[in-house]
Amino acid sequence: MADETIEALLLEQRKFPPSAAFKKNALVVGTHLYDEANADYEAFWSRQAEELVSWSTPWSQTCDWNLPFSKWFVGGTLNVAYNCLDRHVEAGRGNKVAIHWEGEPGDTRTITYAELLSEVERFSNVLRGLGVVRGDRINIYLPMIPEAVVAMLACARIGAAHSVVFGGFSSQALADRINDASAKVLITADGGWRRGDVFPLKPQADEAVASTPSIEHVVVVKRGNNDVSMKAGRDHWYHELMATADPKCAAEPMDSEQLLFLLYTSGTTGKPKGIMHTTGGYLTHVTYTHKYVFDLHPETDVYWCTADVGWVTGHSYIVYGPLSNGATQVIYEGVPNFPGNDRLWSIIAKYGVTIFYTAPTAIRTFMKWGTQEPAKHDLSSLRVIGSVGEPINPEAWMWYHEHIGRGNCPIVDTWWQTETGGIMISPLPGATTTKPGSATFALPGVGAEVVDEAGNTVTKGGGYLTLTNPWPGMLRGIWGDPERYKETYWSRFPGRYFAGDGAKLDDDGYLWLLGRVDDVMNVSGHRISTTEVESALVSHPSVAEAAVVGANDATTGQAIIAYVTLRGGAEVNETDLRNHVAKEIGAIAKPKTIYFTPDLPKTRSGKIMRRLLRDVAEGRNLGDTTTLADASVVTELQNRAAQSSED
Ligand code: WTA
Repeated sequence: MADETIEALLLEQRKFPPSAAFKKNALVVGTHLYDEANADYEAFWSRQAEELVSWSTPWSQTCDWNLPFSKWFVGGTLNVAYNCLDRHVEAGRGNKVAIHWEGEPGDTRTITYAELLSEVERFSNVLRGLGVVRGDRINIYLPMIPEAVVAMLACARIGAAHSVVFGGFSSQALADRINDASAKVLITADGGWRRGDVFPLKPQADEAVASTPSIEHVVVVKRGNNDVSMKAGRDHWYHELMATADPKCAAEPMDSEQLLFLLYTSGTTGKPKGIMHTTGGYLTHVTYTHKYVFDLHPETDVYWCTADVGWVTGHSYIVYGPLSNGATQVIYEGVPNFPGNDRLWSIIAKYGVTIFYTAPTAIRTFMKWGTQEPAKHDLSSLRVIGSVGEPINPEAWMWYHEHIGRGNCPIVDTWWQTETGGIMISPLPGATTTKPGSATFALPGVGAEVVDEAGNTVTKGGGYLTLTNPWPGMLRGIWGDPERYKETYWSRFPGRYFAGDGAKLDDDGYLWLLGRVDDVMNVSGHRISTTEVESALVSHPSVAEAAVVGANDATTGQAIIAYVTLRGGAEVNETDLRNHVAKEIGAIAKPKTIYFTPDLPKTRSGKIMRRLLRDVAEGRNLGDTTTLADASVVTELQNRAAQSSED
């Protein structure tokens, strides 16, 4: 993040204490949870696990911490689907709405807990019928339809681990993830609705499955009604399998450390990491955070998280956290600007949404669309609003506060990662005085510290964010690569988890997140590694060399800027190259701009100088270029950048 931004953040003096009216009904108003957790964080988590989760057999040890490997609630057994479904039905809440689903074209489905349970039981039997057993991996590549939730819970019910791949990823990205996990079954759809059109998924899945020998069956949900080809023996329609499936499937207890899911995320190399999450600790963490961070009152609240199930936010705060807490939630299939720029606000008014959770990039887009859009609808049902995925700038925070929160909703800016499983740093809405742009403090039970380059604790000022204690939802490793796990997260600062984020502590001890400090970009809240995009570019036959940087962008947080050197005599235009990246990774990884250059700036030892390229991309004056092998390359690039911004 640019120095000017850090300076601006430090000038931010506004404070927003929770209102008396909010505190009156809030679950937490004082510091008692913090005090309890500070005294003994293991005992604190143990109490949460006991109170919030139903266990089949109790655990014998709260945490087995063998740095950097942790196990939580060792020896305990439970079933995640039981916790998300059966226990609510058994308690007489079967008729409570679990999901108000809104399709993009305007079709809707209302699904109660009893109905969701019955669908999950059937689908669990479908999976078993396809030969799925405990410990298998299942890939899911679906639009935002209720079947995505059903598929995930059915896996959990029978002890198979799911690996959900965001529907916007390419067939190549899907194939890589299937192969890394050796998944047995792929669950997909014919297509889904997006911006008024059907986007096909099955053809992409077909292309992927052509190179995934482990896939034995493909289950296809009918949603888009687009034409697809079905391969006899391998491909099956979801609705046909469901029609003949046995309706009863008991939830079997799983070991607390049974693998619940893999979720792939970008690291600093070209190969995405399969982040491993397990059962008891993860469920405890997401149930606890979903309840207290959003001040959830399940009897009266209508919760809505706008994430896609393909990302960790969808896993933890659409599927597992809310359902474990017995919440009623909205799930929306499509984009925020179909048919008009007020679609989200119309949905809030229609369902009386009380808790709304979205991303800063979305908020900045809403700002561009104008205040008249939310003003068209009655948003008075809202009482807590949240943000996740990237640092929220104070202007966006204030806009969110005024135009969506109408000045009286606490904002919870929640910092966490795919790896942490659940929220780590966030206000508690009834207890914390917020400051626009600050995620405030580590939650009770979480140990966070800022350290300097040498690993010394910083009590005021900037540095690197680290986590000091193990926590229940923490990743258990990287699938198939324990060394990479140690190296990536635990080697930079011995004994500490290194998140890869810069952070700053102000005079009052508030934490301000400053963005990634590694080669991972954050584009619209999605993590993409520079190396991944570089490999995609270099895989084009015309490209000799590529360097990719994330440059500050007013809407998407960062934008992907690529510098490309072509092979001698080769020609390719920018659009074709951008499309090539989309085909390799997915549309989210398309560079915003590609500069063609005969040379890339390198140090004398041959390393590409990314910092310098970022400065060029952001139009900054260049600092010291004395280590540069050929300074004229940079002058040339600056001229082009200046020219293209005038175009
Ligand atoms: C960034 C998303 C600032 C951060 C849940 C982190 C944030 C990465 C915030 C993880 C926030 C997420 N403030 N930065 N509130 N939330 N980030 O794995 O850089 O997709 O490391 O998980 O997003 O992204 P991931």
